[in-house]
This record gives sequence, structure tokens and C-alpha cells, in this order.
Amino acid sequence: MASSPFGAVPFQMVTGFIYYYYNRWLQFGWSWTLYTAAVLHTVGAFAFLVYLIVHVYMITTGHTLGTHLKAMFTGYENIEAGE
Ligand code: HEM
Repeated sequence: MASSPFGAVPFQMVTGFIYYYYNRWLQFGWSWTLYTAAVLHTVGAFAFLVYLIVHVYMITTGHTLGTHLKAMFTGYENIEAGE
């Protein structure tokens, strides 16, 4: 989700800027309510939270708790030889 051009980061940026320019919506000819922007931006924020929790969990799923984390820092990982 976050890695596609239609992912969470652009979504948060677009809804964030829409939010920011609230006072100009009438000028732009929009008839949104603040609620719409707030809900979209908040849903996006929760998506980030889920992303963060899942990814921190995934770091711990290596051979030991710290295996993946160590690989991120060193660039190396010991893997078992295949058959
Ligand atoms: C370019 C990116 C962003 C812009 C321009 C932006 C802009 C804004 C603005 C204008 C507000 C309303 C502040 C107010 O109450 O006056 C807001 C609220 C908020 N933003 Fe962002 N934001 C951006 C990115 C993000 C990201 C990446 C996250 C979360 C990962 C996030 C989470 C929130 C939350 C939780 C709120 C408060 C909830 C709400 O009032 O709806 N924002 N943001």
C-alpha cells in the first residue's frame, strides 16, 4: 500500500493539504464538509499505525528476535543452506 503511487503517503499528503486549505474550499468551488477531510485523513493515519505495528512485528519473525534487525544494520544475514 505505502509503496505504490496511490499508497498511504500520497493519500495522507493530498488529504493533509486539502485539510490545510479548508478556508479556500469555497474559492475552489468545493462543497466538502470539514468532517469529510478529517475522516479521510484520520483513516489514513490509522493505516500508518497498522503499517507500523505490523512492520515492527515482522522484524521480530527471524531465526531469533533480533535476526532481521541485525541484517538491516549490517547488510548481511546467515541463512540455512537449501537442499
Ligand atoms: C504532507 C503531509 C501532511 C499534511 C499537509 C498534513 C496536514 C494536516 C492538517 C492541516 C491537519 C489538521 C490540523 C488541525 O487540526 O488544524 C492534520 C491533522 C492530522 N494529521 Fe496530518 N498531514 C500530513 C501528513 C500526515 C501523516 C503522514 C499522518 C500520520 C501518519 C498524519 C496524521 C494526522 C493526524 C492523526 C491528524 C489529527 C487528526 C485530525 O484532526 O483529523 N498527517 N494534518
